[in-house]
Amino acid sequence: MVSALTHTHKREAQLAVTLGALAMKNPLTVASGTFAAGREYAELWRETLKQGAIEQQEFSQEILDTKDKPLSLLGAVTTKGVSLKPWPGNPGVRVAETASGLLNSIGLQNPGVEAFCSGDLLWLASQEVPVIVNVSGHAANEYHAVIARLEQESTPSAYELNISCPNVDCGNMSFGTNPRDAERVTRVCREATVRPLIVKLTPNVTDITEIARACEAGGADALSLINTVAGMAIDVRGRKPVFDRVVAGLSGPAIKPIALYAVHRVSGAVSLPLIGMGGIATAEDVVEFLLAGATAVAVGTQNFRDPLAIPRLLKDLKVWCHTQGVTDIHELIGGLR
Ligand SMILES: Cc1cc2nc3c(=O)[nH]c(=O)nc-3n(C[C@H](O)[C@H](O)[C@H](O)COP(=O)(O)O)c2cc1C
Repeated sequence: MVSALTHTHKREAQLAVTLGALAMKNPLTVASGTFAAGREYAELWRETLKQGAIEQQEFSQEILDTKDKPLSLLGAVTTKGVSLKPWPGNPGVRVAETASGLLNSIGLQNPGVEAFCSGDLLWLASQEVPVIVNVSGHAANEYHAVIARLEQESTPSAYELNISCPNVDCGNMSFGTNPRDAERVTRVCREATVRPLIVKLTPNVTDITEIARACEAGGADALSLINTVAGMAIDVRGRKPVFDRVVAGLSGPAIKPIALYAVHRVSGAVSLPLIGMGGIATAEDVVEFLLAGATAVAVGTQNFRDPLAIPRLLKDLKVWCHTQGVTDIHELIGGLR
């Protein structure tokens, strides 16, 4: 299959997509918080390709061509959440594995927007890849202030508002569970920028389409979904919750059916392009999300299981399209029969 693709390189499917004004050369980005700013992954991908530790033939020529800028094989990088001031994150246990997923209670630890601009963002500026900056806050004016600071930089290609994280105490998920608040925070951020504004939705609501419509009314250019599903784990010997805050966010294969259904429903409720995520691990998972109505997809927890997941997925997606006779990725988007 792979050699078939290599020999018919010119007939590779057209993979470019757009999310509002954000142009992506393929539909793959990474899920915020599972890739940091990509430095470690870039290093690993570069070294792996250089050493030939993985058979080169496993990867398509385009990937090998990225050499010194390996992140440029992505449609976009999505950063870890950035807040106005440094956030220390949550005390105690921060991650625990489940039968088919991961629970996390990181608490959006980050060094704050100022340190982000002079650190990760500066580095990303040299990586020749669109950058979606994920933004967190306790209140609408905090989200606005973060974006206002980022507007002074040329590197951000788009913003993703995290109004959906289950493991911080105020702000975040409380915005994402109330349509009025979701619309308000979107509108306030809309006023701060003309760059593409993506709002990230939580599945921890009764009707996700209600929140999606509110964000559309507030001026969002695109929606991303889903954030993690609220859950918990119990230490049976200690007879106490594993996580200090009790609640944690479930991600990984366990949530894929929930995420797919959310994408399917939201795509029928709004006219905005969607970034689908939740448990994506294979090229066929990507295709499922596209068929459900996503224009782009994000790979999250799978990056922890396989740090080379993205290069593999991209190659597999190309092979899948080739073998299925798909010449343009748009044939798949919303293509559910
Ligand atoms: C360790 C970890 C940290 C995360 N941090 C963030 C974050 O900072 N901002 C955000 O919007 N989502 C965050 N998420 C949620 C992911 O971006 C994604 O929505 C979720 O994990 C579902 O995708 P997955 O199953 O492919 O991981 C985080 C997820 C994990 C596992």
